Amino acid sequence: MQAQVQKRPRVMSGMRPTGKLHLGHLEGALRQWAAFCDTADAFFEIADLHAYTTAFSDPQAIRDARNDMVVDWLAAGVDPDRSTFFLQSAVHEITELQVLLGMITPASWLERVPTWKSQVEALGQEIATYGFFGYPLLQLCDIAAFRGERVPVGKDQLPHLEFGREVVRRFNHLYGEGKQILVEPQATLSQFPEIPGIDARKMSKSYNNAIFLADDDATTTQKVRSMVTDPQKVRRNDPGHPEVCPVFALWKIVKRTHVAIVEEGCRSGALGCVQDKGDFAEALNEYLRPLRERRAEIVKDMGYVERIIAEGTQKARAVAAETLHDVRQAMRLL
Ligand code: TRP
Repeated sequence: MQAQVQKRPRVMSGMRPTGKLHLGHLEGALRQWAAFCDTADAFFEIADLHAYTTAFSDPQAIRDARNDMVVDWLAAGVDPDRSTFFLQSAVHEITELQVLLGMITPASWLERVPTWKSQVEALGQEIATYGFFGYPLLQLCDIAAFRGERVPVGKDQLPHLEFGREVVRRFNHLYGEGKQILVEPQATLSQFPEIPGIDARKMSKSYNNAIFLADDDATTTQKVRSMVTDPQKVRRNDPGHPEVCPVFALWKIVKRTHVAIVEEGCRSGALGCVQDKGDFAEALNEYLRPLRERRAEIVKDMGYVERIIAEGTQKARAVAAETLHDVRQAMRLL
């Protein structure tokens, strides 16, 4: 009997190698990536060229972050045997595609992407390069080179995806002769809420408020002890408001079964913040322990990590080359 083979959706996502990964990356992206290894044909990119759009003056940092980031992917359970890890800068088809699609991309569409104006305002003229201006187009090329259908990203990336779909539509309209040469990607939002950092703002390396996957237990405990809580709960027995407390938000992720107890204790005043943070630090270290143990094993053999990247990149190039063949043909370059 012939087995019915259901085609798995092509999933594509990437991360910039700009530093150590933290709890926000784990819950916001890596958990979902690991799950896609079971259900999709997934391509995961080390977006090193994207890192150069803002961190171009520190190339060594980008180089160093590359393998470290992949160690965190592996430790989080993203499986390279059932997905493809690759290095963006080594897949020349992506950069070629960017030149080709650049020919039909109106500059006004890029000017409209909100990150362009806001980042130049925040970081200054220095980062207002041609490369940074083209960031959303490069991101589209990452996806389109693999005909990615679904793209797990955070909601900050939605304007990039929307822009990308417009470029794909324009390409197919101009050159497709009724065929969909390139695929319009759809965003898949993470089901996790935004992860707060130790100061209650969104967890981010640049805010200096992150709990890193590679932190040791003592560092984690120290960070948890310094967390802000409900500012209205001044003394131990004051009733608190868990909904404004980042420790409470993290309890929901780290130990669901304990949430009701913490909520009740906080609201009634029976549970003080110092006690709660001590309990939470323990729970968090427990939660991260398996991942940290895997991490410690993986770093003993960095040759393995390099091999995964090299093999995945080779496979990724073969897939992207097929797309580029079709693109060149459609544009009458062949
Ligand atoms: N732009 C993404 C970010 O800043 C990273 C990224 C690069 C990406 N290429 C991608 C995400 C392709 C999804 C698909 O987080």
